[in-house]
Amino acid sequence: MKKNITVIEGDGIGPEVTRQAVKVLNAVAASFHHEFHYSYQLMGAVAIDKTGEPLPAETIQSCLDTDAVLFGAIGHPKYDNDPQAKVRPEQGLLALRKTLQLFANIRPVSTYAGLQHLSPLKAKQLEGVDMVIYRELTGGIYFGEKTRAADDSSASDLCSYTHEEIERIARPAFEAARKRKKKLTLVDKANVLETSRLWRKIVQGIAAEYSDITTEYMFVDNAAMQLIINPAQFDIILTENMFGDILSDEASVLSGSLGLLPSASVGKGTALFEPIHGSYPQAAGKDIANPFGSILSAAMMLDYFDLHAEAALVREAVEWSLGNGFVTRDIEPVNFYFTSTLGELITDYISGNIPGSVKKENIELRKSTII
Ligand code: IPM
Ligand code: MN
Repeated sequence: MKKNITVIEGDGIGPEVTRQAVKVLNAVAASFHHEFHYSYQLMGAVAIDKTGEPLPAETIQSCLDTDAVLFGAIGHPKYDNDPQAKVRPEQGLLALRKTLQLFANIRPVSTYAGLQHLSPLKAKQLEGVDMVIYRELTGGIYFGEKTRAADDSSASDLCSYTHEEIERIARPAFEAARKRKKKLTLVDKANVLETSRLWRKIVQGIAAEYSDITTEYMFVDNAAMQLIINPAQFDIILTENMFGDILSDEASVLSGSLGLLPSASVGKGTALFEPIHGSYPQAAGKDIANPFGSILSAAMMLDYFDLHAEAALVREAVEWSLGNGFVTRDIEPVNFYFTSTLGELITDYISGNIPGSVKKENIELRKSTII
């Protein structure tokens, strides 16, 4: 199979984690006789520095012309504390989602054996946690009309949704539930918000067509609590843009590290794959960031290409690495491995270069000495 991929490394740790995912994709291509071609493009703070714009036209064109986008992270502290900034890195990502009409952001949250101690929750509560968040990505308060009074006396963000916007993400969410544990929870605030009441009505209508799926409705405040006290109850969580943003970060701590979680954004245009972690500027350039969120995002990309055996092998490699203690500092603060070392290790696993019994001492040599 031949595929063209736009790679947007972005800001902070984006470049270093994305490079590991590209190494892994190259190993997959070599082992399975595929051809992946990459077009490297700018977005975010790095794009503002080089071109003045967070999303240059050339980046958009490349995304439109290629089969998928692999994205790292976006954001820079110099903009975070400057509410006056007119141009912001995040505008690039939001504009790209809108341009490619990526209305569904899919965020799987699973737990890994042996990592339970990293979660703030007790191990018992983590048993059976395996959910996927379907977050609406191109509507709601993120994209509604914004106002700001000239004298800063007031500001507003409009939250609006159309029937079509709700239905086009609800249907794939139900289909996903059908292939999984057959449960879907719509998270909204229908006791207060009109948009939520529209979501509920439309989802109730679709639920009637999916009698094999148990559909539940939960207010977002309760959902935030349920994710902590009983996360195993969830299978598919379907929700609007901002609730999904907040709840997916909350849910990520269940797996033990935000650094492990991948995501896929799909819709009408070219699909985009990115780890859910941000740009983590404090770690940028130190080779300590967790590359698994990005590598697992590449696995989601392989699934999207219908390369399921390849995707499964990448996941197996990551599980093997986690299971054998080959992990970054977020998971093991003392005996940790570098980002690039783990990229090579996963690549070796995929290429069949890891013998049945690992010669750990060889890998130990490349372990961090910063303890
Ligand atoms: C995410 C991020 C983005 C969002 C930011 C960077 C605009 O937090 O992908 O979850 O809020 O959607
Ligand atoms: Mn977010």
